[in-house]
Amino acid sequence: MVESTAKLEFGGKENEYKVRKGTVGPDVIDIAALYKNTGAFTYDPGFTSTASCESKITFIDGDEGMLLHRGYPIDQLAEHGDFLEICYLLLYGDLPTKSQKDDFDHRVTHHTMVHEQMSRFFTGFRRDAHPMAVMCGVVGALSAFYHDSTDISDPHQRMVASIRLIAKMPTIAAMAYKYHIGQPFVYPRNELSFAANFLHMCFAVPCEEYKVNPVLARAMDRIFILHADHEQNASTSTVRLAGSSGANPFACIAAGIACLWGPAHGGANEAALNMLSEIGTVDRIPEYVARAKDKNDPFRLMGFGHRVYKNYDPRAKIMQRTTHEVLGELGIKDDPTLDVAIELERIALTDEYFIEKKLYPNIDFYSGITLKALGFPTTMFTVLFALARTVGWIAQWKEMVEDPQQKIGRPRQLYTGSPERDYVPIAKR
Ligand code: SDX
Repeated sequence: MVESTAKLEFGGKENEYKVRKGTVGPDVIDIAALYKNTGAFTYDPGFTSTASCESKITFIDGDEGMLLHRGYPIDQLAEHGDFLEICYLLLYGDLPTKSQKDDFDHRVTHHTMVHEQMSRFFTGFRRDAHPMAVMCGVVGALSAFYHDSTDISDPHQRMVASIRLIAKMPTIAAMAYKYHIGQPFVYPRNELSFAANFLHMCFAVPCEEYKVNPVLARAMDRIFILHADHEQNASTSTVRLAGSSGANPFACIAAGIACLWGPAHGGANEAALNMLSEIGTVDRIPEYVARAKDKNDPFRLMGFGHRVYKNYDPRAKIMQRTTHEVLGELGIKDDPTLDVAIELERIALTDEYFIEKKLYPNIDFYSGITLKALGFPTTMFTVLFALARTVGWIAQWKEMVEDPQQKIGRPRQLYTGSPERDYVPIAKR
């Protein structure tokens, strides 16, 4: 492919930089030689115009509201696939054959137990500790138990660590939830599907048999699919940067969990439901919309807006459908938070401010209503996001480790601090 170039004149010199084309999406200007040529850095806080890597895993077209995983549109995957099938797709690059799927399911199922000694970690936490704080600690501790899959230079160990993380996150998440509510841990059941097993570990109790509702298990599985991967978002970039130093995959995923916790990112599902509950009734919506538009008010509509989507988040549409499915199955007719959400969305989508700034509901806007209906407390919402996103994080980590071009990530800066100056003894200050 004839490559084009971009010219930059700086400091009286003109240099050319290669322009590279992707399969779809914006071209990139390779500026790796910029500092050597000009002695200057680029400046792009928040990386709004910066591609940090080359990837084949996920593509988002923010203007079209499009999300592809290895080329497959998210609505088709959510409709026809199951979560472990999407895990296989993200990790291996293609949809599995029947025998590949059966083998993958078997491998994941038989890694769902955690080392029995890990249960002792939980007793060190207060019962009212936020489950995300527990997840940061316990997932990071996995690297203390699975030394036989921390050599990142070994492809077999990379895959074993990937399977272990996908398989054990539901178990650890369920343990965090059980510890939080003071109930005993429930072991994984190999005869259950991935999502059914998770619901069983969360909601079964030793006193009676717990039958998983298949409609709710399917909804849970679809929610995991919608959260699986999303290009180079903040937490995925955190995992890639941690992994670029050679840190083991368990430590990298723990770093991703920490980043995801923020309310501007994965913490938005918890914040969005808390916001809907705070608004409480439809008549109070205008007051909050006014606050969201007020430059002097830090309040933002949680679950609205997105760095990339300047059109409707395709996941939010599917999430909204799933919300109605779950509420219908549970016979929840009038959920006040759903009434507020639907009216808030209607108002925001017709309001000049939101239209001009291209603010649409994102995946976090409806997910909280569904998760609350499924029986989870708001403090567990981001844990469920982390559970699902683990496959995206680990697939991106694996791609980074296997990329011959990869090197340790080390951004530079614009320094505006004090110029060099001499030490002043305290007696003279
Ligand atoms: C996720 O990156 C990913 O892919 C993330 C994610 C994934 O799957 O990994 O999709 C998951 O994190 C979804 C986003 C969840 N966060 C929220 O719902 C929190 C509320 N949203 C905002 O904080 C915000 O929209 C962000 C953080 C999501 C995006 O922020 P940007 O891209 O940095 O945009 P910005 O802050 O520069 O906002 C642009 C303008 C600003 O106004 P001006 O300064 O130009 O006048 O839009 C305004 C903002 O004030 N704005 C909002 C708003 N979001 C942006 N105003 C009111 N309410 C909001 N929610």
